[in-house]
Amino acid sequence: MKGKILVTGGAGYIGSHTCVELINAGYEPIIIDNFSNSEKFVLDKIKQITGNEITTYNIDCCNLELLINSLLAEKIIGCIHFAAYKAVGESSKLPLKYYHNNIASTVAILSFLEKISCPNFVFSSSCTVYGQPDILPVTEKSPIKLAESPYGRTKQVCEDIIHDTVKANKTLKAFALRYFNPIGAHPSALIGELPLGTPNNLVPYITQTAIGKREQLTVFGNDYDTPDGTCIRDYIHVVDLAKAHVKAMEELLRTKEPIFDCINLGTGKGNSVLEVIETFERVNDIKLNYKIGPRREGDVEKVYADTSYALNKLNWKTELSLEAALQDAWKWESSLN
Ligand code: UFG
Repeated sequence: MKGKILVTGGAGYIGSHTCVELINAGYEPIIIDNFSNSEKFVLDKIKQITGNEITTYNIDCCNLELLINSLLAEKIIGCIHFAAYKAVGESSKLPLKYYHNNIASTVAILSFLEKISCPNFVFSSSCTVYGQPDILPVTEKSPIKLAESPYGRTKQVCEDIIHDTVKANKTLKAFALRYFNPIGAHPSALIGELPLGTPNNLVPYITQTAIGKREQLTVFGNDYDTPDGTCIRDYIHVVDLAKAHVKAMEELLRTKEPIFDCINLGTGKGNSVLEVIETFERVNDIKLNYKIGPRREGDVEKVYADTSYALNKLNWKTELSLEAALQDAWKWESSLN
């Protein structure tokens, strides 16, 4: 066993896949999760995939005292901080809920790591920090734009908080990983995304429509300045994304100097909404009921990653295709029924 990695939000979508990859790589994940947007059965499923039972603390990461009381004895060598609210639309209606949870938890986790002298921190950030970039593919040097939502702003603010903490605390080493659009599920179909209520994101909406939970998918706008008029995103298989977290942690463990760096995690390829629908239909042999509707407020037209920095810095690139991700997403949705 190579050491214990604290995974906040470890029962969530990306967190659970990362726990599997940490175990595959020889680490012992320790989960903190308050199960506000995740299910306890996910822990059993991780055990089914890996054979390992994960030590789990049902606590809120905003509570520093509880973190200290519960976790002081664990010999943690690094932390991957996923726990956060992530519904873009809700964040505009309930900004304080987002500012409080996402920012206070990051501050508490950083304080806890300082307290236990644990220097390795990986933060779950988002390409939303770029807004609509002027130049594509978007590199990490692209300017940070005014956030479209309070959710996006929490990611920007947390990146700044981590940066300031690294500058002040000369031992902390941190990466902010800026995800593009994570989709798909573990190929075992034992873990995947569990959206609460009506999904906001494209792929869960597609799979729920295909299975009959939703009547029809609406494509939000086909009058954008793109080849087929629909928005373009960089869709990354969640298993590839999870593996990048292991690589990022290993790079921090190797690094001696204080460091703060932001790294794009995407495939480097953009796909339109209609291309995703067509691919889903083709690889799963399903006809999807969809219609074209008006634009969704706040959507950027197109964004996809320049992935060269992730390759240089982490020796990581994606291995799984859009086809595989959409097959795995469908297997997962089918397994839920
Ligand atoms: N879309 C539809 N119909 C739907 C849902 C989505 O047409 O029912 C379209 C959207 O308009 C967009 C594309 O599908 O063009 C992708 O939308 P998602 O909601 O799946 O993803 P976003 O790119 O809007 O959002 C994602 C993450 C956010 C993050 C953002 C950064 O979910 O957390 O990327 O760009 F902030």
